[in-house]
Amino acid sequence: MHKALYRTYRPQNFDDVVGQKHIVKTLKNQIENNNISHAYLFCGTRGTGKTSTAKIFSRAINCTNDIKPCNECDSCKFILENKSIDIVEIDAASNNSVDDIRELRESVKYSPTNFRYKVYIIDEVHMLSQGAFNALLKTLEEPPSYVIFILATTEPQKIPATILSRCQRFDFKRVSVKDLVSRMSYICEKENVEIEERALDLIARNSQGALRDALSILEQCISFSEDKVFYNDVVDILGLVNVESLFDISNSIINKDTKSSMKFLNEFILWGKDIKNLVDDLINHFRSIMICKVSDDLDDIISLPDETIAVLKNQANSVEVDDLIRILNILSKTKDDIRFSTNQRILVEIAIMKIAQPIFDDSKEALLKRIEALEDAIENGAVVFRENSDYKTDDLIDKQDTYIPQEIISEEVSLIENSWSKILQNIKNDKTNAKSVSYASLLSCVKNFKVNGNILYLTFSKDYEFAKNRLYEENIIAYIKDIIKDTIKREFNLRLILDDEIEEVSKEKDEYEEKLYSFVDKEILEIVDK
Ligand SMILES: Nc1ncnc2c1ncn2[C@@H]1O[C@H](COP(=O)(O)OP(=O)(O)O)[C@@H](O)[C@H]1O
Ligand SMILES: [Mg+2]
Ligand SMILES: [Zn+2]
Repeated sequence: MHKALYRTYRPQNFDDVVGQKHIVKTLKNQIENNNISHAYLFCGTRGTGKTSTAKIFSRAINCTNDIKPCNECDSCKFILENKSIDIVEIDAASNNSVDDIRELRESVKYSPTNFRYKVYIIDEVHMLSQGAFNALLKTLEEPPSYVIFILATTEPQKIPATILSRCQRFDFKRVSVKDLVSRMSYICEKENVEIEERALDLIARNSQGALRDALSILEQCISFSEDKVFYNDVVDILGLVNVESLFDISNSIINKDTKSSMKFLNEFILWGKDIKNLVDDLINHFRSIMICKVSDDLDDIISLPDETIAVLKNQANSVEVDDLIRILNILSKTKDDIRFSTNQRILVEIAIMKIAQPIFDDSKEALLKRIEALEDAIENGAVVFRENSDYKTDDLIDKQDTYIPQEIISEEVSLIENSWSKILQNIKNDKTNAKSVSYASLLSCVKNFKVNGNILYLTFSKDYEFAKNRLYEENIIAYIKDIIKDTIKREFNLRLILDDEIEEVSKEKDEYEEKLYSFVDKEILEIVDK
């Protein structure tokens, strides 16, 4: 029969117990100096070695050899084979009544049959009823010299003070990533399993400091892989976002490369991963970058391997704190929004657009970014100044139509293209407008999209001029504009045109740009800065 790894590798002596040096050392000393206590309380997260240590201890105090437990003398063997009635394990989760404890008190009266000590290991002791605690207390108050109690719990705060005060308490710590890795390496060696070092590291980091969890994941990975266990197997099994893809996608986000961000997002979805995981991981990742930026002493704050921290620091150098704040804000908002949404993907796409291009984002940080971009453009000579141009400050602040580089325009076009069927669907499903179904079908004749600043052109081929004409009404256009705004969170002024009118649009664009540049003036930037 197959036996789980974590059972097979239950530590058998004190030195096998990892990560609990302080406890092991004290217990060993007590045994050596013959001053063991009559009641212990082992506290700590599950899977950190409480039960294992209790078992080792119960053998050690009964062992007849020098190195205790030897696991070879009659007494050790007898206990290891579970034949001894003097070592009693009670699961308080299922034996928590007064009667259960009364029974226990009854048996405490009889001295051990074979050994020196009788040991009661009470697991999940916080589950005892009030009456059971009271009954237990009586025994703890005057225990026979041959009786030892080891109470184990994950929730010491639920134990009555009267009990606590009678016990010597040991707190089992979460096992560090390093100790988890070394124990897993040892086990893999014993099992003749080949495994990548960073695979072990990844398992360790996903075990919350519980060795039992680490071993369960390890076991899954071993049975999943064919010969060697690779990092990517672990990523798959845990449904994680690969650290490398996290660096890739965050890099493109930081570099405001929307196109490759979208590409990574798409790959991620193709692999069938949960988009919520991605957002969570991105938040954690940017949080780590933030920590790198503001702190030198990272080891305690983020438990990541050194080489990962080195790459993180590199990334931290290429991004400003205010940008990070903006990114984290957008991502946290997205995390909230996608919880109940059926359009998780679109929301994440919008978030990426917002991060990359502050023009989609109307937060204060974004506004500052836009001004910065404008300043850069001026510095680089991308903007021509005209002295004494006519302007009003209000004009500038209201004006959405600032300088927009060509890449952004094409990103906006692809945003529309990607969202178009969703937009049509939203129009079709709109019960508040009696004509919405007909608008949707007319709009499905749109052939192309073109964006110029804040204007979105929907172009129709000559064959569908009728559709264009039917839609060509101020209130219909306003209606479509609103739905677009609701769907993609971006407000455009709409123009419906025929394909062959596109020439004129280009002309209009030039005029538009000229008008735009005339708005930009050193003095205006100073005003905005205040
Ligand atoms: N500190 C540890 N050292 C070595 N193995 C451990 C340790 N903690 C847990 N394990 C592994 O996990 C399994 C369960 O541990 P256990 O002692 O029952 O944890 P707990 O009682 O704290 O929940 C053990 O069989 C062992 O394989
Ligand atoms: Mg246990
Ligand atoms: Zn022994």
